[in-house]
Amino acid sequence: MARKITKAVFPVAGLGTRFLPATKASPKEMLSLVDKPLIQYVVEEAIAAGIDEIIMVTGRNKSAIEDHFDRSVELEHTLEAKGDAERLRLVQQIAGMVDFCYIRQNEPKGLGHAILRAKKLVGNEPFAVLLGDDIIHSPRKPAIGQLMEVFRKTGAPVVAVEQAPMENISAYGVVAPASRRGKLTHVRSMVEKPQREKAPSNLAIIGRYVLTPDIFARLEATEPDYKGEIQLTAALNALARRRKVLALEFEGIRYDAGDKLGYLRATVEFALRHPDLGRSFRDFLKGLPL
Ligand code: G1P
Repeated sequence: MARKITKAVFPVAGLGTRFLPATKASPKEMLSLVDKPLIQYVVEEAIAAGIDEIIMVTGRNKSAIEDHFDRSVELEHTLEAKGDAERLRLVQQIAGMVDFCYIRQNEPKGLGHAILRAKKLVGNEPFAVLLGDDIIHSPRKPAIGQLMEVFRKTGAPVVAVEQAPMENISAYGVVAPASRRGKLTHVRSMVEKPQREKAPSNLAIIGRYVLTPDIFARLEATEPDYKGEIQLTAALNALARRRKVLALEFEGIRYDAGDKLGYLRATVEFALRHPDLGRSFRDFLKGLPL
């Protein structure tokens, strides 16, 4: 099987309940982080890693995502008429970023089910998966690119992991290591959101994956869990019994932008790093009576 990855699946059908009421009528992926919607950071990460086709698995109330990555002829005309070349470039750039296709997940049956919806569009190729809640700052090499590099060398499916504090471990899929070599772990098994006492390690799965097409058969064979959801972690666990699956502790800072506090952290840190705003924002923070 070829080891070049060109397609990425973005499951974006989630209801964003952790972020209500902000997400009642607009998608959580469109919440703005400083001056760009969250989803654009993740799309830019994929493009920086060499992805040239993005498959968005969407749901109801998500048309703003499609519109954001489409042309906006009216806006372009207005900016052109005003002679605002800088902003015109900005909006045109977004529409021309990469090829997008959209498919609906019309039932809320979990992450595994969302990925299964992309089966036909992915075809018989390895592919990347990026979850929009996880924003990763990694200026040297995009996080998904780091996983793709491991895949190029090994041909094995790879999940991103980081060491999480044990008090939060139940929020994640967790890897049980068979063996570890530096940042790379050979996965023995994995379990979705275990109770803290039952967690097999502190290696928490973060929303970046490189998967091989044999995951689809495992997803099809996965029974829904107690919530009626088909979990990707369960399918990957089944895959790990049949072939080598790896976990990579990637380089970069990850923010859980689907959570209110995580989103605030991301907002402050991205604003501090922003080339135009960073300096004045820092001065503003220093002046706060904390
Ligand atoms: C999903 C995955 C979980 C992973 C997490 C990372 O869970 O099911 O294994 O640890 O993303 O963000 P969710 O947070 O969507 O419930």
